[in-house]
Amino acid sequence: MPTNAAFTAELQAELDQLKADRVYKTFNHLDSPQGPWVEMEGRGKVLVLSSNNYLGLSAQHEVVMAGIRGLRRFGAGTGSVRFICGTFTVHRELEAALARFVGTEAALSYVSAWNANEALTATVMREGDFVVSDALNHASIIDSIRLAKAITKCTTAVYRHADLDDLREKLAANAGAKRKLIWTDGVFSMEGAIAKLPDILQIAREHGAIVVMDDSHATGVLGRTGRGTAEHFGVLGEVDIITSTLGKALGGAAGGFVAGSAALCDYLNQRSRPQLFSNALPPTVAASALKSVEYIEANPQRVETLRENTAYFRAAITEAGFRPLPGDTPIVPIILGETRDAIAMSNALLDEGVFVTGFGFPVVPHGQARVRCQLSAAHTRADLDLAVAAFRTAGRRLGLLR
Ligand SMILES: Cc1ncc(COP(=O)(O)O)c(C=O)c1O
Repeated sequence: MPTNAAFTAELQAELDQLKADRVYKTFNHLDSPQGPWVEMEGRGKVLVLSSNNYLGLSAQHEVVMAGIRGLRRFGAGTGSVRFICGTFTVHRELEAALARFVGTEAALSYVSAWNANEALTATVMREGDFVVSDALNHASIIDSIRLAKAITKCTTAVYRHADLDDLREKLAANAGAKRKLIWTDGVFSMEGAIAKLPDILQIAREHGAIVVMDDSHATGVLGRTGRGTAEHFGVLGEVDIITSTLGKALGGAAGGFVAGSAALCDYLNQRSRPQLFSNALPPTVAASALKSVEYIEANPQRVETLRENTAYFRAAITEAGFRPLPGDTPIVPIILGETRDAIAMSNALLDEGVFVTGFGFPVVPHGQARVRCQLSAAHTRADLDLAVAAFRTAGRRLGLLR
């Protein structure tokens, strides 16, 4: 068999195995803007409870119009990487707005938060340095640390999720390292749990470590005015480095950023490989993200609406007999046990016109399979009531509720 035919056959066999193991993902196709309701191919109008469009800004008129103006003014793309071809003024404005919003001196945008995370760790670590990471950190953080280790030969460790004693022990065991970096998510995406940020900051000070926090699920979401986990805990301006996405509350398109000192951002601009060897964010996306930040600054009540919707849904779904993981974030995982239950629930909910994704092993531990609901400020109370009614019907049908 020719080499490529054999290679393709091997891939197909692995795909078939995924199907046999019932972990093959099927994709739902949408034919409308992202929003509380979408037009789903083959299903019609469905209510979305599984989007990161936390503030409903993806289809917000002002945000869309800013993107259109950005497209008209700057064209479709950047044409090359920033240092070769020039940096657009809209990138500079966006970065100033992001820094202002998350409470740092400066910010630097990337084409995704994945890219921002990957860029950061490998660029600032060196041999003899030490990175310690929460066990439940996002895949992009995990891979960024793997990459940093391979490139720089820095030392790495993982501490048990939210276990501050374990964090202290790992730092103490690496007291001789030059730079020490603690990596944490602000909000953990599968649990909806918030990092114990004030304790982590305190531990970092005691051990001479730098704190890097990925606030992708908290930017625009946590804190009275949506500035994230630091605002939630009243420690705005105290986190050394924040990374986050533009692909969730901030318009939901794409893009990410690193925020910290001006020297850090300048250094990353000079040295980080995704910045040096990859095109910048398309200007239309930068323009929409900039408008999203300005929109939240002018309309902090959107963040309050999200908080109210979250509290309402958490109470109603508990009242309906389900067991959401406790918490305050708009990520509301409902534990169902086995993977097949989570998948069956997700399918049954879609039959009721509600789109919620099920997650099973290996994304979450065995026996902890779940459907993960995510609330948006764009949901109305009627939407949330409808979602809870769908949960009741689907839960009874599958025998998950009495
Ligand atoms: C915590 C966290 N970090 C990073 C990312 C990646 O974001 P982006 O889509 O901008 O690459 C995500 C997205 O799922 C995330 O949840």
